[in-house]
Amino acid sequence: MTRSFTTTPVPYDLLEHCVDLGIRAPSAGKSQGWHLLILTGSETSRYWNIAFPAERREGFAYPGLFAAPVIALVLADEQAYLDRYSESDKQHTGLGESPTAWVAPYWTIDASFSTMTFLLALHDVGIGALFFAHAEEKSLRHEFHIPPSVHILGTIALGYESGDTVQEGRSAKRPFRSASSVIHRGRW
Ligand SMILES: Cc1cc2nc3c(=O)[nH]c(=O)nc-3n(C[C@H](O)[C@H](O)[C@H](O)COP(=O)(O)O)c2cc1C
Repeated sequence: MTRSFTTTPVPYDLLEHCVDLGIRAPSAGKSQGWHLLILTGSETSRYWNIAFPAERREGFAYPGLFAAPVIALVLADEQAYLDRYSESDKQHTGLGESPTAWVAPYWTIDASFSTMTFLLALHDVGIGALFFAHAEEKSLRHEFHIPPSVHILGTIALGYESGDTVQEGRSAKRPFRSASSVIHRGRW
C-alpha cells in the first residue's frame, strides 16, 4: 500500500479504465452492487475534514496521505442483491426477501473482489493506493447522501507515490502466512 502521495492529478480516463476492470470481478447473480464515491483534487478535503479533521492530524505518521489527489469511498449496495434475487430466474432461492436469508453478505464479498481488482489495475498503471478503515460513518453518510441500504466498506486514497521515506505500516513486519497454513487438506 502507498501512504504518501504527490498532488499530481490522476487522468480521469485512467481511473475509469481501472474501475472498468474492477467491474469484471465475480459477482453473485451478476448483481454488481459495487460503487465508488469519488472526490478529486480540492474536493478531497470534504472527506478529510470529516474523517480526519485538521486538529487531530498533528503527529500523524502519514502526512503525505492527505495529498492524495483522489479519495474513493468504497460502497456495497445490499438492495441491488435483494432486487436481483427477486427476479424470475432467482426468485426460487428466497434470497430476494431479506438480507438475513443469505449465508454470507455477498454484496460485501462482491464489492471486495471488485475493489481488489481495482487496486491491482491501479498498480499495473503505476498508481499507488491505500485501502483504510473510515471513521465518522454517520457524518460521511450525511455529507455524501449515502442511503442506509448502501454499506460503506472503507476508503481508498490513490495517486502517484511521492517517493518520500514513510514510516512502515504498523502491521508491515508481520510475516506473510505460508500456503500450507492456509490449505486444510480434507478437514480443518
Ligand atoms: C480491511 C482493511 C483495512 C485497513 N485499514 C487500514 C488503516 O486503517 N490504516 C492503514 O494504514 N492501513 C490499513 N490497511 C492496509 C493494511 O495495513 C496493509 O494492506 C497491510 O498492512 C499490508 O501492507 P503493505 O500492503 O503495505 O505491505 C487496511 C487494509 C484492509 C484490507
